[in-house]
Amino acid sequence: MAVKQLGIVGTGLMGSGVAEVAAKAGIEVILRSRTAEAASASHAGLQKSLTRQVERGKIEASTAEDVAARVRAVTDLDELASCDLVLESIVEDLGTKQELFAQLDRICAPAAILASNTSTLPIVELAMVTSRPERVCGLHFFNPAPVMSLVEIARALTTSDETMAEVRAFVETCGKTGVDVKDQAGFVVNALLFPYLNNAVKLFDAGVASRDDIDAAMKGGCNFPMGPLELLDLVGLDTSVSILDALHLEFSDPNFAPALLLRRMVAANRLGRKNGIGFYDYAK
Ligand SMILES: NC(=O)c1ccc[n+]([C@@H]2O[C@H](COP(=O)([O-])OP(=O)(O)OC[C@H]3O[C@@H](n4cnc5c(N)ncnc54)[C@H](O)[C@@H]3O)[C@@H](O)[C@H]2O)c1
Repeated sequence: MAVKQLGIVGTGLMGSGVAEVAAKAGIEVILRSRTAEAASASHAGLQKSLTRQVERGKIEASTAEDVAARVRAVTDLDELASCDLVLESIVEDLGTKQELFAQLDRICAPAAILASNTSTLPIVELAMVTSRPERVCGLHFFNPAPVMSLVEIARALTTSDETMAEVRAFVETCGKTGVDVKDQAGFVVNALLFPYLNNAVKLFDAGVASRDDIDAAMKGGCNFPMGPLELLDLVGLDTSVSILDALHLEFSDPNFAPALLLRRMVAANRLGRKNGIGFYDYAK
């Protein structure tokens, strides 16, 4: 079954980005926020991003209009009843996601696939709160979704071959490269990436080098497009702490325990680009 209508729950960084990707691929998108303000902000954000692309000559104005018209921002979860695939992209908290999966299971058609964009949480624990554990999988897009080409397709112990084949086809329709991964915290990319990012914070906190020098070192020395502290700001420091906590819980490896400074920055509401200040000050 081809995905013609995609539901997205959560209109933060990732939900909004995936909406743009899918709508550009010709898929109808229903984007659900909890409040009317957030719903209109998410549609305004999409239109702003499309306008920027028109101004840069990347897409035609008529294409931008068609893409924007394919995305409908709503607040009522029941509006997702007709979707073939629903991607959950809300806060990285198991209990909150489980509650949502149970609700989606009641609302969506039995054949609909329910997927999570989680970076670290066990997909099987989301699958088992539904009556369709074989139709639940992970679809881990990367940030920013319109730019990054990879999607990790996570298979829970319960996920069927048909579900894996259908989501792979969806990923390819979106113009992305899918890799199949086991249902394990961090999958491939974050399991390798986050110890590196965490250790960069520890080096910074220990005064081994300045913020700018740590970022410059990894860009110049490893040819990485961004330094680790810049990348943490892009991911979001709150999301990064949640990812590290989940990896630590899963593997009991002390290297995954979030650096103290990361926790303190989250407590101080320095979350990175999303709220204007993290390791860098974006208001300047
Ligand atoms: N930020 C990244 O780089 C990145 C990359 C890949 C995957 N992810 C994953 O994507 C998911 C979303 O992350 P994000 O970066 O977009 O976060 P975000 O903080 O930008 O957005 C989270 C969204 O969830 C909503 N939300 C919060 N609590 C909720 C609740 N109780 N019920 C319903 N909605 C709620 C918020 O209003 C917001 O719209 C997470 O599971 C995260 O691990 C993040």
